[in-house]
Amino acid sequence: MSHLLPLSRVARLVNQPRHVLQAMIRNGSLATFDGMIELDELLRAFPDVKWDDDPELRRVNEIKDQAFARRVRDRALPDKEVLVARLNELGDEYAAAKALLLHYGAVMRWLDEKIEEIEESASAETHHALHTIRAFLLRNLAEIPAEAAQARAAIAAERKLKIMSAHVTIQPSGHEFFVEGNDTLLDAALRNGVSLNYGCSNGNCGECKARVVSGEVKKVHAHDYVLKDSEKEAGVILLCAYAPVNDVVIEANVAGARDIPVQQLTARVKSVEVFNSRIAALHILAPRSQRLRFLGGQYIRLACGGASGSYAIASCPCEDRHIEVQVPRRPGDAFADLVFTALKANDSVEVEGPYGVCVLDEDSPRPVIFLAFGAGFAPIKSLVQHAMSLELAESMDLHWLADASGHYQDNLCRAWTDALDNFTYVPHPPTDDLDALLAQIVTDYPDLHRFDVYASGTAAQLDVARTHFLGAGLPEARWFAEAQAA
Ligand code: FES
Repeated sequence: MSHLLPLSRVARLVNQPRHVLQAMIRNGSLATFDGMIELDELLRAFPDVKWDDDPELRRVNEIKDQAFARRVRDRALPDKEVLVARLNELGDEYAAAKALLLHYGAVMRWLDEKIEEIEESASAETHHALHTIRAFLLRNLAEIPAEAAQARAAIAAERKLKIMSAHVTIQPSGHEFFVEGNDTLLDAALRNGVSLNYGCSNGNCGECKARVVSGEVKKVHAHDYVLKDSEKEAGVILLCAYAPVNDVVIEANVAGARDIPVQQLTARVKSVEVFNSRIAALHILAPRSQRLRFLGGQYIRLACGGASGSYAIASCPCEDRHIEVQVPRRPGDAFADLVFTALKANDSVEVEGPYGVCVLDEDSPRPVIFLAFGAGFAPIKSLVQHAMSLELAESMDLHWLADASGHYQDNLCRAWTDALDNFTYVPHPPTDDLDALLAQIVTDYPDLHRFDVYASGTAAQLDVARTHFLGAGLPEARWFAEAQAA
């Protein structure tokens, strides 16, 4: 039987991003079988991978060497019961393989004796033929060929990966991610930017109910919400209380912008980061028991000490409790004044949201152009990070058309370019001739019909940009934009 591996696990084994493998599948240099990769194909397509270099073992050793706090170390390793279940499963696989080998050994001994028996009464010609076959079999059984050693090393690397993490496929959306350390299914989904339905995140509300289609899960946190017997029989679990033992397929709804309810919570200020006299970032922390559900590209309403305002979220939904908003200092904006002059760590801020529907089309594998006008960079930053965590887009180009605030997070954008080989960053200095600049940008994309474009700026800037992009061949349905306050 062939050994099949999911694409996400192959990406980890060969240390390549998924989009590189997807490009290989598209150009025919990597064959798939029912969406999976066969071990032989993996070894053929990646002959230079050093299978003995064990990234999982290295990661665990690094954690130990760095003498991380116990809490961090505990998070990096799977829950004890999950680990025991995974080791049991591995033990069962080993026992089955060993039993099969013993059986093959017995068959070989029987064959050897039979050949020897027939040899005695055979003609000289048959005797020679049988002798040759027997010698071939014994020689090949005695020495392991180089390809088999490679396959053994690749399987060993994959098995270690399976001990440390489990692969999850969400149906019907097709999202995939790994659950690592002692994360629950919900923790891992959020960390990977997959917006599954949930409420309390601690086993009380039942809103994270989902059904296990295949694979095994284990309860790792007690929960007060009571599942009905009929639900349990149908494989229903709470995503916030369970972790996968092995690779699982889960039936669950992935929320779109319109599915996420408006929430209200009190957050704590973590820090204020003033970029320059015109714009600052406010970093806040949601309470442990009430994280804010949102999607990249949305905005929230903030209030403190009688002042309030709506601001774009600049952080990724995958960042757990941390939320960053970017606050331009505009005349008459009392909340912005507060951010620039008075807010400090541990102050309380009332949060309401999320709002806005300009979010990623998660069904689209198309290349993406992000267009940020001035402080419109904030929602674009959130969208870029969300797209990175989902690893969906074939390529991402960010055009930042600066205003007087400048490219105030230029270093971050350059770091993205260094870290990702499918990310391009093009900073554009302030201009008096927006028409000419946009006309020049679209000429770089003769195949604009293949792209999705996400834009953020004032209504006037977006109008001009839309005219240029649609005029150059972008389908109207592929233009995603939401105007910011002028
Ligand atoms: S999110 Fe409330 S029970 Fe899981």
